[in-house]
Amino acid sequence: MKIEFISKEIYQGIVAAPMFSGQRHSKGADALDKISAGALTRALKAFRFDGKPGQSIDIKALLGFDGAAVMLVGVGDRDAADDLAWEEFGACALKKVQTSGVDTLTLHMGGLDAGAGARAAFGALLAAYRFDKYRTTLGANKTPSITMIRIICDDAAAAKKVFSPLHELAHGVCLARDLVSEPANVLHPEAFARRAQELETLGVDVHILDEKDMRKLGMNALLSVGQGSNYGSRLAVMSWQGGKKDADPVVLVGKGVCFDTGGISLKPGAGMWDMKGDMGGAAAVTGTMRALAGRKARANVIGIIGLVENMPDAAATRPGDIVTSADGQTIEVQNTDAEGRLVLVDALWYGLHTYKPCRIINLATLTGAIIIALGHENAGVFSNDDALAKALDQAGKASGETVWRLPLGSGYDKLIDSKYADMKNIGGRGAGSITAAQFLRRFVGETPWAHIDIAGTAWKDSSDDPREPTWATGYGVRLLDRFISQEHEGQA
Ligand code: BES
Ligand code: MN
Ligand code: ZN
Repeated sequence: MKIEFISKEIYQGIVAAPMFSGQRHSKGADALDKISAGALTRALKAFRFDGKPGQSIDIKALLGFDGAAVMLVGVGDRDAADDLAWEEFGACALKKVQTSGVDTLTLHMGGLDAGAGARAAFGALLAAYRFDKYRTTLGANKTPSITMIRIICDDAAAAKKVFSPLHELAHGVCLARDLVSEPANVLHPEAFARRAQELETLGVDVHILDEKDMRKLGMNALLSVGQGSNYGSRLAVMSWQGGKKDADPVVLVGKGVCFDTGGISLKPGAGMWDMKGDMGGAAAVTGTMRALAGRKARANVIGIIGLVENMPDAAATRPGDIVTSADGQTIEVQNTDAEGRLVLVDALWYGLHTYKPCRIINLATLTGAIIIALGHENAGVFSNDDALAKALDQAGKASGETVWRLPLGSGYDKLIDSKYADMKNIGGRGAGSITAAQFLRRFVGETPWAHIDIAGTAWKDSSDDPREPTWATGYGVRLLDRFISQEHEGQA
């Protein structure tokens, strides 16, 4: 997709402008009304349109200029129009015209600040994402036609500057979506590690540990999950050192179960195909590293992803097996389908022990129970540190990738005590997301830590949000990027 910011009023392709509620026109809306000889004003009278987000009105192919159509898109209350409202505006406009046959979408952002133009472009870019690489027969009318987004702004140079880091962020989000969407016969642990390695071209230092390396370190919890797979397990460590040399890094850890059959505790067949996305945490961490490196973030951030495939096999872990994790604690594996926590604790150990981070955050599609609790609207967050939980909440609200905090406590912790080992990997029937978090809590000590359960947000069968056009959402990249800039780069 080509993106261009211009200060001249060049009308090409489909030209969209914002409308606010209460029939308040933007400068662009007035301009479009003029070039359509008042047709928009007449249309506004005739049709139900009150400038609400998601609403639009358009007039096609009657215009005495180069363009094919003019369109007004609602933004809602003018005074409340924030970054997210402008993203939604751009996303709605793009979604409406993506397969129209026209190649250019022009957004008229005259009279608005540079941030509005940049955010609209960002939203349009997120909305334009597709994962069609395996379709050989996509009908002509379903094939995207828009190849250029042009934004008319009062100060094009300023808008371009604001957009530049957002462009990198969009690349990170789309990378995460690509990774989640890829089927597991293509994106197995070894292939994922190679994809992580590609970030080296952006200045990320990438180090891959194979099974031999991990065995030496005693990472038997992680290894026990992958031992039934034909693919080797991997730990990919991505390091971005954009901050002060002596500043302790933030460590991000992702669950990268490239496919989760459940193992010997086999999952039911229906819907199992979604488990190609069980590496959504690892995808979010990789996408975030892509975004941070692309925009040269002034922070030290380490991304660690545990890459495994959970398969039933003669060599697979059995229910009742006991494994010793890298930090020495023993785990009775009662259910091989509660594998994510086994991967995470060794990856967390590696991050804590190697980097002494100031904060450590893990993301994982960890429990089906989080979908029962929170649906697909919020990810669940668990933390041993109120300031960290609050910072994530703020970053969530600002980025649009929201989180909701759930409790930890000794009463829940007891539920994972085992008769034969230090702990078992499942609790009882209740509080499934919390007992999973308690399990991780046993491995992080006093380092400020947060666990984000993204099982309900990493993918969605359908989303009302025009910024989420496909099953894979890329959830976590915008949240973490915002968290880093807000907390660890000394800027808002
Ligand atoms: N990957 C799943 C969790 C999941 C379920 C993610 C549905 C997305 C959608 C995880 O490994 C799992 O199987 N968890 C079990 C835990 C249980 C055995 C304690 C679950 O949620 O059922
Ligand atoms: Mn599982
Ligand atoms: Zn899983």
